[in-house]
Amino acid sequence: MQQDALTVRKRDSYQIFNDIAPTYDFLNHVLSLGIDRYWRKKLASRVPLGQIQVLDLATGTGDLALTVAHWRPEATITALDLSQGMIDIGKRKVEQKNLTHRVKMAIGDGVNLSIPDRSVDIISIGFGIRNFSGPYDSLKQCARALRPGGKILILEFSWPPNRLVRSIYNFYFRYLLPWIGNRLSRHKDAYTYLNQTVENFPFGEAFLQLMRDAGFQTVSATPLTFGIATLYQGTAKNE
Ligand SMILES: C[S@@+](CC[C@H](N)C(=O)[O-])C[C@H]1O[C@@H](n2cnc3c(N)ncnc32)[C@H](O)[C@@H]1O
Repeated sequence: MQQDALTVRKRDSYQIFNDIAPTYDFLNHVLSLGIDRYWRKKLASRVPLGQIQVLDLATGTGDLALTVAHWRPEATITALDLSQGMIDIGKRKVEQKNLTHRVKMAIGDGVNLSIPDRSVDIISIGFGIRNFSGPYDSLKQCARALRPGGKILILEFSWPPNRLVRSIYNFYFRYLLPWIGNRLSRHKDAYTYLNQTVENFPFGEAFLQLMRDAGFQTVSATPLTFGIATLYQGTAKNE
């Protein structure tokens, strides 16, 4: 897919997520062989304990927000996404877990944050920033919205450094995953370009530099599961 077409697809990606919302959670667990749960738990373990305010962007059906809520019982979480279909499913999950007093799910744009300056302690983004039309703008907005010393935690796909692992992953990501994903979601191409959004997105040091430029310091990248995913962390400079 041409770069311009990929940009348009990213801008409208939340509409595709509306279509695949009913099968999203099931396919996430199947396609990642359940490893996605471990990745989210890893991010939650970096969230400080105590009565803190967390903003989860591109929350989808809320799995990351719910994982944080589970491991950090005093935290309150605002979970935003542009897809009404994903948010509706997330709201039902929050109700089923009796967490409506701590987890608020709502429609919200991760690129144009309508959140006051210096108002949250933690911002998390799980496999979402890659889909944003303006990842750098989003990072800048996050730096603005965090309290001084507040942390951003980002989970995103990356490319494994080991050649053998990379070629297996490549084959899976380019051919098998789209085939399985499109069939089980009954969508003509929702999973077709997943690999392209990953291949065209900066990871490792390149992403850390984007974070620094946007206003974060003490940034770090922790590769997970052979580097298939990476957990990024940074502290807002807002002194
Ligand atoms: C791959 S899903 C990730 C969902 C969830 N965080 C997870 O870990 O399963 C990406 C989500 O990003 C959302 N999204 C895309 N562009 C967005 C934007 N500009 N603002 C907020 N959410 C957006 C989509 O609607 C979709 O729910």
